[in-house]
Amino acid sequence: MDTVLLSDNETDLLKAAELIKNGEIVGIPTETVYGLGADASNENAVRKVFEAKGRPADNPLIVHLADFSQAVYYTEFIPDIAYALAAKFCPGPLTIVLPKNDRIPMITSGGLDTVGIRVPSHPVMHRMIELSGRPIAAPSANTSGYPSPTSAEHVMRDMNGRISAVVDGGSSKFGVESTVIAIEGNSSARILRPGCITKEMLLEVCDEVIIDHAILHELEAGQKAASPGMKYKHYSPKADIVMVEGELEGFISYVGEHNGDGVYSLIFDDDKDKYPYTYMTYGKDSSEQAHLLFQRLRELDDIGAKKVYVRAPIPEGVGLAVYNRLIRAAGFEVIRV
Ligand code: TXA
Ligand code: MG
Repeated sequence: MDTVLLSDNETDLLKAAELIKNGEIVGIPTETVYGLGADASNENAVRKVFEAKGRPADNPLIVHLADFSQAVYYTEFIPDIAYALAAKFCPGPLTIVLPKNDRIPMITSGGLDTVGIRVPSHPVMHRMIELSGRPIAAPSANTSGYPSPTSAEHVMRDMNGRISAVVDGGSSKFGVESTVIAIEGNSSARILRPGCITKEMLLEVCDEVIIDHAILHELEAGQKAASPGMKYKHYSPKADIVMVEGELEGFISYVGEHNGDGVYSLIFDDDKDKYPYTYMTYGKDSSEQAHLLFQRLRELDDIGAKKVYVRAPIPEGVGLAVYNRLIRAAGFEVIRV
């Protein structure tokens, strides 16, 4: 199949929406990362998404809606706290896991009786839901296991020939995927995947916010994942990623001892004046690091990096989202200096 590159004008969005209605798969920009969009209620379309990504069948897809009010149509029950969270953070980079009803097929929810609902703020994804009149299931548009795509070019690289079209909506604003939460009790939320809606922000609405243990720790054999995505290797470029935690001085001496052919460092903007080895930078604060991380991991592959030592952000605020992606890209290999 030829994958068509579409622009984000209304004529092209109508074409893309027509493809969704016909059960085809389209790469769609969102404010977090690009998604691989399909009609969430169409089992065959959803099956194609799992195939195109090479995604395990038990890993559920997030369902994107134009407005949170539409969630009543796809869920059994919506607790008040979910409405309060939606009032504050939707549209935006937040996914709320809720008990699903039969309008969401089991294939979409990876066999679970819950569904992750997200109301994207990106005008293209929003318009695609409106024009198609369908709930859009969309995982990140990367090959399973590889870093998520933050540009149409990234999607093309991974999906060319495997999907019908990609809509080019420029580079993704946030750069890491949405914060995924489950509701617990009347007023608590559990973060299953950290993102740009931080624990501190959620605490403006919830009495308690729990960071699931698996966000920073590897699941042990036999341990049940609160979110299936926690089980799988993620975000990994071809290069071997090693996180190095500590001050710049320690980082420099560690890399000095382990330097060699194909060795690169991924460091903060502020480090570069003093940095003696081959490097790329990925921003000066957590938000910039979130925006640039996946792009840099792909660029490091493009230049043939074999091993990459990465300066680890402090796992707080948006830094927790960056840290969580890195620790998975590194297969939980963290060096403390
Ligand atoms: O920002 C995003 O969320 C992007 C854009 C495209 O919207 N989508 C995205 O989807 O990141 P995906 O499929 O790559 O990641 C969804 C994550 C997975 O780790 C999955 O296990 C978890 O959310 N998830 C989805 N539905 C769930 C559910 N019902 N219960 C628990 N975890 C769920
Ligand atoms: Mg993903």
